[in-house]
Amino acid sequence: MNGVPTEAIGQMFSALAPRYRLFNRWSSLGLDDRWRRCVVNEVGAARRVLDLGTGTGDLALRFIEGSIHRPFVVGLDLSLAMLDVGRTGGESIFPAWVQGNGNQLPFITGVFNSVVSAFVLRNLFVGGVMAPALREVSRVLEVGGRAVFLDLTRPRNIFIRWGHGIYSRTLLPLFGRGLFGNKWPGAYLSHSIRALPPSDVVGRVFLDNGFSSFECRPLWGGIVSLFIGKK
Ligand SMILES: C[S@@+](CC[C@H](N)C(=O)[O-])C[C@H]1O[C@@H](n2cnc3c(N)ncnc32)[C@H](O)[C@@H]1O
Repeated sequence: MNGVPTEAIGQMFSALAPRYRLFNRWSSLGLDDRWRRCVVNEVGAARRVLDLGTGTGDLALRFIEGSIHRPFVVGLDLSLAMLDVGRTGGESIFPAWVQGNGNQLPFITGVFNSVVSAFVLRNLFVGGVMAPALREVSRVLEVGGRAVFLDLTRPRNIFIRWGHGIYSRTLLPLFGRGLFGNKWPGAYLSHSIRALPPSDVVGRVFLDNGFSSFECRPLWGGIVSLFIGKK
């Protein structure tokens, strides 16, 4: 499975949209929101934030709730169906929703203090748009602004890796097939996790596309990591 076109990735998520949140809760054993909060804590105070690949808006919402400064948050995604689930979720606070592509951001240069993103970085590699998307992210950031990407990674510790491997081959497909039936994109998911290169390679792509520094910080035993670039 090489170079999946961006449109196909958007269509795949649209098909998953109605049950996407539930799948996230189950498949992360309820940890997904804690992981998103790590992004919110990492960014701290920011006035204008872009959530790239916002999907159903969960990170964008955590951002608005979690900050006493009530930042202006824009949630951008390829999939209108994902945005619609977020839009009709009944929250009293909400981000500005934008349908768009990460590698062609419809925003002026330097407008955001921070760009954040959860579970999207892998998709940018699979779609072959990692470099153009990061160039765009750095363009829309102010000088000194930071991009904080959260994503699933492969744990380094052999025992955690072993347990994680068993979980991925047993419970994960069970949740996936149970919720999505034959729409379950199991092959895509495992391909996308393998497609994310080692952190030094990811860092090189950041540094070659407008960022002055890069750091990768593993969390939760390396099951997830933060990828942090400063413009
Ligand atoms: C795994 S979901 C993550 C959704 C959300 N960030 C969350 O925390 O649950 C990945 C999302 O990224 C979006 N996406 C993938 N590639 C994209 C791109 N090039 N531009 C914009 N959105 C993209 C997909 O449509 C999908 O909604």
